[in-house]
Amino acid sequence: LLFVLGSNTASVNSCFFLPGPCFLAGLGPILSYGRFIWTGIGTASNYYNNKYGSIARVWINGEETLILSRSSAVYHVLRSTHYTARFGSKKGLECIGMEGRGIIFNNDVLLWRKVRTYFAKALTGPGLQSTVQICVSSTSKHLDNLQKMTDPSRHVDALDLLRVVVVDISNRLFLRVPLDEKDLLMKIHNYFETWQTVLIKPNIFFKIGWLYNKHKKAAQELQDVMESLLETKRKIINESEKLDDDRDFATELILAQSVGELSADNVRQCVLEMVIAAPDTLSISLFFMLMLLKQNPDVELKIVEEMNSVLGEKGESVDYQSLKVLESFINESLRFHPVVDFTMRKALKDDNIEGMEIKKGTNIILNIGLMHKSEFFQKPKEFNVMNFDKTVPSRFFQPFGCGPRSCVGKHIAMVMMKAILVTLLSRYTVCPHSGCTLNSIRQTNNLSQQPVEDEHSLAMQITKHRHAVRSVI
Ligand code: HEM
Ligand SMILES: *[C@@H]1O[C@H](CO)[C@@H](O)[C@H](O)[C@H]1NC(C)=O
Ligand SMILES: *[C@@H]1O[C@H](CO)[C@@H](O)[C@H](O)[C@H]1NC(C)=O
Ligand SMILES: *[C@@H]1O[C@H](CO)[C@@H](O)[C@H](O)[C@H]1NC(C)=O
Repeated sequence: LLFVLGSNTASVNSCFFLPGPCFLAGLGPILSYGRFIWTGIGTASNYYNNKYGSIARVWINGEETLILSRSSAVYHVLRSTHYTARFGSKKGLECIGMEGRGIIFNNDVLLWRKVRTYFAKALTGPGLQSTVQICVSSTSKHLDNLQKMTDPSRHVDALDLLRVVVVDISNRLFLRVPLDEKDLLMKIHNYFETWQTVLIKPNIFFKIGWLYNKHKKAAQELQDVMESLLETKRKIINESEKLDDDRDFATELILAQSVGELSADNVRQCVLEMVIAAPDTLSISLFFMLMLLKQNPDVELKIVEEMNSVLGEKGESVDYQSLKVLESFINESLRFHPVVDFTMRKALKDDNIEGMEIKKGTNIILNIGLMHKSEFFQKPKEFNVMNFDKTVPSRFFQPFGCGPRSCVGKHIAMVMMKAILVTLLSRYTVCPHSGCTLNSIRQTNNLSQQPVEDEHSLAMQITKHRHAVRSVI
């Protein structure tokens, strides 16, 4: 009894210093962990920030975890070099091949840094020009074949369409091996499900075969596909007379492996993560944007007008820099309805954030989505492109993060979104089922914010429109 009382007193004290649920002899950690498991990481983070303020302390799997939505604290963590690791269950990360491999959740900081240079090289610099061409041609190609994806009621599953386009673009940019897009997308989808299922699960979960095995299998299937695609790639490289001057990402990694820089397992995981990155984020972002566009016809009109004045007669060599209305729309969409709502970090050193002591090993959740809705913007709670009329200081708007562990694809992602949207909107207009809005479709906010894919709720009519005239159906 004394022991219990003793530990209680200490935790009651800490309860006063750190906003968040109390320790309560270990009950607090169990309850907060339960909330994360049952409602999903994103939903739980929003719950705690809404309840306890922009800095909240909880526990995930017994580990102290801070949830930050205050821009000054978020900015501190983003730019610091003390938070370049992430957190997640070791067994979970092993299950999906991310433990000590790849980039996204690689916590071997030395190896992560080495791998990141390969990603950065492939995603920035001179390659960006060919990115535009590939995005335009891939989008056009799939739009030309729209009938194949259209159901009898003349609707297309817009998210499926965007995923096929985006995975094709990723392949043509980073891998360049013939592949079965549909099959690959299904496996990417299942891999993502496994990822968000296992990421913060307790060790016991991985011992319960009937719960765990199907997830293990789903992760393995994508890894196997990657292995065979890489096998094909190695053959292609072997058979080609000389290597291209513009070597793609997969080629660079295979070469790095051949000189002993990277292990075969690591190469496979890096290519896997490069291939899933855009289908998991960009295609869903674009889907949300199409929904928002339809809910804001005046914005669609302004975007199409801007496109017509910049594009001129031919759609060639568009100056994407000058499409300011489109960029404001993309920014406002990423702010108002993000796919990536938060990011997960771990403190590698003791630190101090605004007078608050951070112990080495503390888990950090940067709740960027909530930050975007609680500070700086004129109309934080509504969709309004006017939110980007004034230049937004960077610390208030961080859809991709910044600093050493930011989204390494942030520049290419903007280019890709613009190129795909311009190609789509210059020829077509979309129309969801009537009454179907972002608010009405079911969504989960687990590892990321996604629509629930049931029935035909995500179907849209995609119809041609002539010049700047929007055809309303
Ligand atoms: C709309 C699209 C996208 C959004 C909103 C997005 C957002 C993010 C965010 C918020 C992070 C975490 C940053 C942090 O912890 O501070 C991240 C990480 C990452 N993103 Fe993106 N991203 C997008 C598209 C892409 C694309 C197209 C690629 C690559 C082709 C990519 C590759 C990555 C990688 C590899 C990481 C992990 C970086 C690391 O841990 O070092 N992302 N992304
Ligand atoms: C979180 O994701 C997993 C895997 O997709 C799913 O089984 C679980 O139901 C999700 N949780 C919520 C609250 O949506
Ligand atoms: C590449 O070709 C060499 C012979 O030219 C052969 O020894 C090697 O096994 C080949 N590698 C692959 C991956 O096909
Ligand atoms: C959109 O956001 C980016 C930061 O992600 C910023 O650099 C850019 O200036 C913004 N564009 C507009 C038009 O506000």
